[in-house]
Amino acid sequence: MKISVCGKGGSGKSTVVTLLANEALSRGLKVLVVDSDESNSGLFRMLGFSQAPIPLMELVGGKKSLKKKLNQPNILSETQISLEHIPARHILKKDGLMLVSIGKILQALEGCACPMGVLSREFLKKLHLREDEITIVDMEAGVEHFGRGIDTSIDGVLLVVEPSLESITLAEKIRGLATGMEKRVWAVLNKISSEGLATKLKGELKRRQIEVIGVIPNDQAVFEACLEGRALSHTEATSQTRDILDFLLRAAI
Ligand SMILES: Nc1ncnc2c1ncn2[C@@H]1O[C@H](COP(=O)(O)OP(=O)(O)O)[C@@H](O)[C@H]1O
Ligand SMILES: [Mg+2]
Repeated sequence: MKISVCGKGGSGKSTVVTLLANEALSRGLKVLVVDSDESNSGLFRMLGFSQAPIPLMELVGGKKSLKKKLNQPNILSETQISLEHIPARHILKKDGLMLVSIGKILQALEGCACPMGVLSREFLKKLHLREDEITIVDMEAGVEHFGRGIDTSIDGVLLVVEPSLESITLAEKIRGLATGMEKRVWAVLNKISSEGLATKLKGELKRRQIEVIGVIPNDQAVFEACLEGRALSHTEATSQTRDILDFLLRAAI
């Protein structure tokens, strides 16, 4: 199964990706996390790696030569990409957890991120998973990835919604775009401080035809781990992730 995790910047996409990855690992699944957010770079820390992988963009010679390279023999010219075919320096591995990164914007005036979108789309399209493998994509914030077709080969879109009007409005927009592409969409509420707030947000999303499949509390331990650049460990938020993964795995059948 390939799941993309989308939503507003700061809503908790990388946090939810990490919580889901940890939960899937604890069930003996192999997990590939794809970092497709070209702006933020902290995901590797949340997952417990000490450094980021070398972006796949480097593998195809960088943004400038991507177009040219797409026509030459390289990993992307295969019809299928299996995880063991990704060169070691581009994929970090630890106890069943794997991380690849598409690319990061590092310099001013280096041009737009469209080539990274092309690479994300092609990589996800060709990525071949075995039964015991799951891919979770940490998407860039906002809706541009839909325009770039990155979600084309995704089985379902998981929206992360924090308690803000912007986040709800963006969720509605994403639902429209994703259903237009015949993708299934579910939401997870994040940073929730009370049951009353969860009920209110569920109502708001229901009115927008968005199904909420989980609620992650506002968790001080998550906040502190993020602030200090530590791996997310077992916390209150972890236990809530169990039901979310259960739902996603059932939906995959
Ligand atoms: N459940 C949570 N409880 C407390 N703080 C959270 C939670 N989820 C996210 N955060 C805080 O929000 C910040 C942004 O989360 P992050 O996952 O990086 O968002 P995104 O990937 O959507 O930009 C984190 O640095 C952390 O401080
Ligand atoms: Mg992020």
